Amino acid sequence: MQDLSPQPGDLEPIETASVDELRSLQTERLRWSVRHAYENVPHYRASFDRAGVHPGDIKDLSDLAMLPFTVKADLRENYPFKMFAVPREEVVRIHASSGTTGKPTVVGYTRDDIDAWATVVARSIRAAGGRAGHLLHNAYGYGLFTGGLGAHYGAEKLGCTVIPVSGGMTERQVQLIQDFRPDIIMVTPSYMLSVIDEMERQGIDPRSTSLKVGIFGAEPWTNDMRREMEERLDMHAVDIYGLSEVMGPGVASECVETKDGLHIWEDHFYPEIIDPVTGEVLPDGEVGELVFTSLTKQAMPVIRYRTRDLTRLLPGTARTMRRMEKVTGRTDDMIILRGVNLFPTQIEELVLATRELSPHFQCVLGRDGILDNMTVRVERRESASAEDARQAGALLQRQIKNSIGVTVAVDVVEPAGIERSVGKMRRIVDQRPPR
Ligand code: DLL
Repeated sequence: MQDLSPQPGDLEPIETASVDELRSLQTERLRWSVRHAYENVPHYRASFDRAGVHPGDIKDLSDLAMLPFTVKADLRENYPFKMFAVPREEVVRIHASSGTTGKPTVVGYTRDDIDAWATVVARSIRAAGGRAGHLLHNAYGYGLFTGGLGAHYGAEKLGCTVIPVSGGMTERQVQLIQDFRPDIIMVTPSYMLSVIDEMERQGIDPRSTSLKVGIFGAEPWTNDMRREMEERLDMHAVDIYGLSEVMGPGVASECVETKDGLHIWEDHFYPEIIDPVTGEVLPDGEVGELVFTSLTKQAMPVIRYRTRDLTRLLPGTARTMRRMEKVTGRTDDMIILRGVNLFPTQIEELVLATRELSPHFQCVLGRDGILDNMTVRVERRESASAEDARQAGALLQRQIKNSIGVTVAVDVVEPAGIERSVGKMRRIVDQRPPR
């Protein structure tokens, strides 16, 4: 793999500013953002008034804890445009999350917001090793989802040549990678696996492609998955995080030279970690729910937005800004099985440690009588015999029991036996009858 570390002069000054400079910029921006939200969004005015706080009370970053949280339901209740802090005519773009039930969550951007978003995405691609002039294959979905267009504008801003492929039509993805010879691919990690399988089906060695870096996000993936991708593709695999409510992709990103968690672009998004049950703010280093306050967003400021993502904050390394550890999962994706809490990422780590099993797996929830149960459905690797894969399945079951402490069934299926994602993979299949 090529050394893609930044050279002097590659970074924006704020990326290497002192912590004091950063905190002072954040304080100034926080005061503006809180006032902007209060003065222009009836929801914030009402919620701050109910909590008895006024924007004038927010003098320092630590005063943020006085303000009430914002949750997804607040955005739904203000559907479609009532969370906007500027006249609708100043909003140049709308995105929305699909939302499995009920109304989608709508977000909006002014022209300046789009520019700030492109700046943080350009910064993320550069952190991953991308440079002006690189050819970038963008397989994140274009449309209401923020992934496609978010990545696109950032890549253009950095000066890349963007190939706006979007998700799906896997055979054509492979053809374009072969013919255009991109340096970078942006895609969900689960869809990358489908693209690799397709290369192998066509007799192409995935290690032989032109790709130098994969920028993977929009769903949780583990360091074991990184090893798998880097080994199978002979390229760097770097994590990018974000969510529509806060901006889209590019809220935080890993640096290729360290790959030690994601630097949060704190000059635009101020992070906190809270105890998801009590709402108490936790010190850096402790695991809890990630909360963001936007510092520069005009169209739709968010104040203390609860992401439901679980992680912890760590000091900066390759950049001044703090890092967040790779996300373990969302509080809503936590499976509680006979009193044991578990996340699909824990299963991913164990599956990837088993050579005969492929990384394509799902956690299927069912119920016998009153007790919930779980079956890990996982594909045999093409290279393993059916008998070796069966034994590997039995071993996986024992490892899940030993390391997570819960008994599950393991069902090893044939290659291609599990549905493929073209975007975010559905890891949990809930087949429990309603109670
Ligand atoms: O998934 C934005 C995005 C697009 C990020 C492309 C990265 C790349 P939403 O559809 O609003 O936005 O979903 C946001 O996805 O709260 C996390 O639960 C999850 N997520 C996003 N990135 C990561 C990541 C986009 N790198 C939700 N690791 C978030 C783990 C992630 N989970």
